[in-house]
Amino acid sequence: MRIFLDTANISQIRQGVKLGVISGVTTNPSLVSKEGLKDYKAIVKEICSLVPGPVSAEVVVNETEAMLKQAREIATWAANVVVKIPSTTQGLEVISVLAKENIKVNMTLCFTLNQAILGALAGAAYVSPFVGRLDDISHDGMALVKDIVDVFKNYKLKTEVLAASIRHPQHCVAAAKAGAHIATVPYQVLMQMMQHPLTDAGIARFLADWQRVQRQQR
Ligand code: E4P
Repeated sequence: MRIFLDTANISQIRQGVKLGVISGVTTNPSLVSKEGLKDYKAIVKEICSLVPGPVSAEVVVNETEAMLKQAREIATWAANVVVKIPSTTQGLEVISVLAKENIKVNMTLCFTLNQAILGALAGAAYVSPFVGRLDDISHDGMALVKDIVDVFKNYKLKTEVLAASIRHPQHCVAAAKAGAHIATVPYQVLMQMMQHPLTDAGIARFLADWQRVQRQQR
């Protein structure tokens, strides 16, 4: 499973990329607005220049023609930009046109297997089931990820499953077990993925023992 960072925060992206495990970034209008950033194009271009892989940037209009126009514009911002299109009827039409123009799409706000199947048939490069938001309304978000993975495998659909709305490290474990191609994670979750108290305790003990040896040698 590959790991993307789910953020528009430049310093988090710089830090994450330094670790050598981040192969893409996803943003959305809420994440961009959280950073108080005004120039959408400039921030997406900066993120694209920092990340060795796909960077998802979402359209911020809803009507078919307007979405298409904006998606085509976003696609010119960088070679590694991927346009995020919502899982709606209008979105589906837009995805099918963009796919014919070889513009990569991440179909976002996916909450059902049917939406995922249609997105794949329309030619989306990625579909993003929102795990945490389904869990929030007492649905099993990870069961949806597994269903999509299984069905895409059955029919040899090339669309990748990008587990999104990841809220904690256990979601990452479950996404990997479910066979998600990618999990997009907030920076804090990335940090939590590497934490273990026994690792910290083990280092403390090793260093203490090592210092004792050093003292004995003096
Ligand atoms: C990623 O593509 C999504 O925009 C993001 O994971 C949504 O996460 P949230 O449900 O925590 O806002």
